[in-house]
Amino acid sequence: MQIAVLGGDGTGPEVVAEGLKVLRAVACKAGFDYSTHDFDLGGERYLSAGGDPAKASIPVIHDDEIAELRTYDAIYLGAVGHPKIAPGILEKGLLLRLRFELDQYINLRPVKLYPGVETPLKDKGPADIDFVVVRENTEGIYTGMGGVQYKGTPAEVSTQVNCTTRFGAERAIRYAFELTRRRNGKKQLTLVHKTNVLTFAGDTWWRAFNEIGQAEYPEIKRDYNHVDACCMWFVKNPEFYDVIVTDNIFGDIITDLAAVIQGGLGVASGGNINPKGVSMYEPMGGSAPKYTGQNVINPMAAIGAMAMLLRETGVNQNNATLTKAGNMIEAAMMKVTPTMASQAAGKMGMSTTQVGDAVVAAL
Ligand code: IPM
Ligand code: MN
Repeated sequence: MQIAVLGGDGTGPEVVAEGLKVLRAVACKAGFDYSTHDFDLGGERYLSAGGDPAKASIPVIHDDEIAELRTYDAIYLGAVGHPKIAPGILEKGLLLRLRFELDQYINLRPVKLYPGVETPLKDKGPADIDFVVVRENTEGIYTGMGGVQYKGTPAEVSTQVNCTTRFGAERAIRYAFELTRRRNGKKQLTLVHKTNVLTFAGDTWWRAFNEIGQAEYPEIKRDYNHVDACCMWFVKNPEFYDVIVTDNIFGDIITDLAAVIQGGLGVASGGNINPKGVSMYEPMGGSAPKYTGQNVINPMAAIGAMAMLLRETGVNQNNATLTKAGNMIEAAMMKVTPTMASQAAGKMGMSTTQVGDAVVAAL
């Protein structure tokens, strides 16, 4: 198992160090070998290489680095983001570029309230908040199609095309049905879109969802929510959900809301997945410049990303040892969360490194 490690910016390297600490322990316990290789990528590297902070002037990642990343079993990412760099440069130059070029067409976001973790939802507990969002990760309005004309004049016009393909919708939908089957929960898959307004793109998703579901997954219950209603149900009745499948931008938005109901960005992990290629796992929180270097940031999301990395690599490579190792990490995390004062940075009642140590001890 060869893992590429991109610590990145800000608190990224600190939380990644805790994930790697837990990896060391679980590899020993579950019995598998691995190696890690550090890649120096992110905003700091861009600036030190002479990149312009105001506009993309040099590549954030080079072609030969992407070629090298392709040779790994998985990528473990800390955070990219730099207070001095204009929005869009790192996001497009690194994160989106990797998603697109490595064809990581699934963004997988488990939403699970761990024991002892506080949710802002009144009268809801761990039994109510346990679902997974499957977000399409390479299409929609993220493709960059469109343009701007007459810029800076009163006649300025800009378009940002929502590119939906039947191929892209189908592969996300099939992945979500397979996951629903494997999860063995309520066996219910909810499509989230906006078919009442997006009558072209929404209809492509709707027909693909129902045709595939009916023909290939008759035992899975199909459900549908408009995206605005889904936001309401997340707050009112999160227990309705088992697995959700949705388009790129809707998935982006609802998963931030979902992160809050599972206890915040300190605990939310995600994966950018190409089931037959190289996938990349990351904590959902950013580089948190104001907490950098203080040993106060919560590493749980990064540890959870390591659990996902092992579990999903195990699923995709048909390696039961890795899948089991991922599940062991999650079980250990669930023993530690009740002992923490909070999941918020600086309020955990322990330091970043102590949380990592506690998960290792629980393992
Ligand atoms: C996410 C992030 C990214 C996205 C940004 C940083 C480009 O918000 O992974 O959800 O919008 O996909
Ligand atoms: Mn997002």
